[in-house]
Amino acid sequence: MKGGVAVLDFGSQYNQLIVRRVREMGTYCELFPGDAGLGEILTMEPSALILSGGPSSVYGDDAPRPAPGVLDVNIPILGICYGMQLLALHGKGRVEGGHQGEYGPALLHHRGDSRLFDSIESGLRAWMSHGDRVVMVPPEYDVVAWTDSLPIAAMANPERGRYGVQFHPEVNHTVFGRKLLENFVLGISGTGRNWNMETFAEEAVQKVRLELEDGGKVILGLSGGVDSSVVAALLHRAVPGRFVPIFIDNGLLRMGEKETVVKTFRDHFGMPLEVIDGSGEFLRALSGVSDPEKKRRIIGRVFIELFEKAASGIEGITHLAQGTLYPDVIESVSFKGPSATIKSHHNVGGLPERMKLKLLEPLRELFKDEVRELGLRLGLPPALVYRHPFPGPGLAVRILGDVTVADLEILRKADRIFVDYLKENDLYDEIWQAFAVLLPVRTVGVMGDERTYDRVIALRAVTSTDGMTADWYRMDSEHLAAISSAIVNNVKGVNRVVYDVSTKPPGTIEWE
Ligand code: XMP
Repeated sequence: MKGGVAVLDFGSQYNQLIVRRVREMGTYCELFPGDAGLGEILTMEPSALILSGGPSSVYGDDAPRPAPGVLDVNIPILGICYGMQLLALHGKGRVEGGHQGEYGPALLHHRGDSRLFDSIESGLRAWMSHGDRVVMVPPEYDVVAWTDSLPIAAMANPERGRYGVQFHPEVNHTVFGRKLLENFVLGISGTGRNWNMETFAEEAVQKVRLELEDGGKVILGLSGGVDSSVVAALLHRAVPGRFVPIFIDNGLLRMGEKETVVKTFRDHFGMPLEVIDGSGEFLRALSGVSDPEKKRRIIGRVFIELFEKAASGIEGITHLAQGTLYPDVIESVSFKGPSATIKSHHNVGGLPERMKLKLLEPLRELFKDEVRELGLRLGLPPALVYRHPFPGPGLAVRILGDVTVADLEILRKADRIFVDYLKENDLYDEIWQAFAVLLPVRTVGVMGDERTYDRVIALRAVTSTDGMTADWYRMDSEHLAAISSAIVNNVKGVNRVVYDVSTKPPGTIEWE
């Protein structure tokens, strides 16, 4: 996509938020590494540049800096926090450490004549998070805002379209932050609104057609999750006769999952869905394995084997489609580099190289909520578009230890009761992810006059925005009581239910 705003990433924890805020205005925005070359940045033909914050000190030996020429480019630039300090340094102002850092809210006063603060009252709350500060603005800049403890909170050089703010307009705690970003993007830089899912869908369809213009075919591992479903709907629209979705039943799915996928994609959309029953292979390979990472590796390997086998029977495949999203792309271009792997999440790694296929990733510019919007526009049912995430290794990471057919049966029933209850009681959409886990312990109970010695189900329900951090959902005790008794009364082999009250970190969302 061309036109819009380029954001240079200097390592701020808020860098994704800047991109999101700009897109929420209806303007395309893309993140580049802080040291990206001018040529690379200009390929997107941006009409404005934003320099993100970051943890470094501009005078530090290994401080990340923009590439030569970037700060002299002839489009407006807004520097946020570290980004403002870079602008100050570049213009021969002065930045200093050693002052008391400021972390948290501060009341921001402004001069009233800078376009950056158009329609923004003076004295509103802004969010600070900085150690260093600008102590002298460059000669051609003016100080346009301050707080009680920070004499230079914003600076401006309107002739050259250069602006710097020490606070973070991208976070919600800065109450006027959205307006300030709009003033910069839509007002000062005159960037148009060029981003909505309608035009995105049209462009994405054209791109796929162009990529496959030589007549190749594209395959997709359709899991029934949101991302692969939206990719499927898009490819079906773009190249209907040359798109082959493959659904592999790994025997680790929830109750009724395969049937729903077949109903939606084969019956409703009329896609030529290939359904492969791999449950025997997966369960045999998992037999006796209890280590979570080993389970993941085995599932990934068997998936690739079955997928390759299915694909090799189809003539003329040239491309493999994947539901990669923008946060994954950002993660890999980010200044901080890919974060440490806590769990190996990528289930199809290595597949395109081995199969000598070209990769097609039509969602790689989108955030999750944009993917959902696109899915609705492409005609996917809301119940599918707003489903909770489900891990690739499926129920295998929710049966702690060895995975058996009998345990899968128990877990499926308990999970179904839990999730159905949440849907029936309008709780499902308040929760980011909810599921049952089968624990490998037995506890003593009493049912009627009989002593029981049965298994334990743990219920997990979390709130989150992206799965990176999560809090446990504060479920009403009456609901917990109803779910617990429904499970114990209807699932043979379970006599106890517990509710997980751990946050992430230090826990993770899944138990394995
Ligand atoms: P954790 O347990 O790491 O999970 O807090 C974060 C999110 O990722 C999902 N998850 C996975 N997804 N393959 C996947 O495709 C995996 O191996 C995997 N492990 C966890 C998890 O359900 C949650 O949404």
